Amino acid sequence: MITIKFVPDPLIECDLKNVYYPSDDSYLLIDYFRKKINDDLFDGIKLEEIENVLDMGTGTGIIAIFFQILKSLYPKFNPKIYASDILEDSIICAKRNEILNKSKNKITYFQSDLFKSFPESLRSKFNIIVFNPPYLPSSPLIKENINKKGIDHSWEGGYKGIEILIVFLKELKRFLNYENAHFVYYISSSRSDIDELEKRIINVGYKNEKLEKIHIFFEDIILNRLQYIKD
Ligand SMILES: C[S@@+](CC[C@H](N)C(=O)[O-])C[C@H]1O[C@@H](n2cnc3c(N)ncnc32)[C@H](O)[C@@H]1O
Repeated sequence: MITIKFVPDPLIECDLKNVYYPSDDSYLLIDYFRKKINDDLFDGIKLEEIENVLDMGTGTGIIAIFFQILKSLYPKFNPKIYASDILEDSIICAKRNEILNKSKNKITYFQSDLFKSFPESLRSKFNIIVFNPPYLPSSPLIKENINKKGIDHSWEGGYKGIEILIVFLKELKRFLNYENAHFVYYISSSRSDIDELEKRIINVGYKNEKLEKIHIFFEDIILNRLQYIKD
């Protein structure tokens, strides 16, 4: 018999001003994962097959910590959890939040620009990668690289809002365990050039599925899932 368990949101605190505080996009991901796990499967993948999970651009650590909570509730779900961010403040904040959620040194953290500082030992290792990226088009000042502040990393996705995701896509295959069960989840916005992004995704060999969409003020926020389908 399959039992549905109550999975709480992680407790999150952060007073460091450069760090993205969880918002609708963060909870769109978490709520989807909460619905898609049971005693045997995560979004259709057998729990035992998931060995390594990465939360790219972890911010306060909310998604990585949520996966730690899932591990505590589902005995067959026992992957190693990794979290990374370009900002040192995010790593500091995520480590503090891990402790706030009664876990210590269970998550492995990297301060890294996308995958650039990841060790070679993690090559082809990740079954699940989650990225809630900066996905909005740059403001004119940031385009000229003037006045870019730490917090701009939370939202500024490049000229069309997709450039950081495109670099992520180029680096992704080296670290994805694409020959075994895998999914990559990411958030996109109707304010960015989604058509161009989807063309790029197909060109580099992935299938893109739009899983859920919410409308917030001036934009649709979309939860997408990628799977690698060809060499
Ligand atoms: C929209 S926030 C999401 C934070 C968190 N995952 C959440 O859902 O609440 C985007 C995060 O990506 C990080 N980020 C931006 N550019 C990055 C890069 N090149 N490499 C790694 N992290 C990056 C930002 O610092 C920020 O923490």
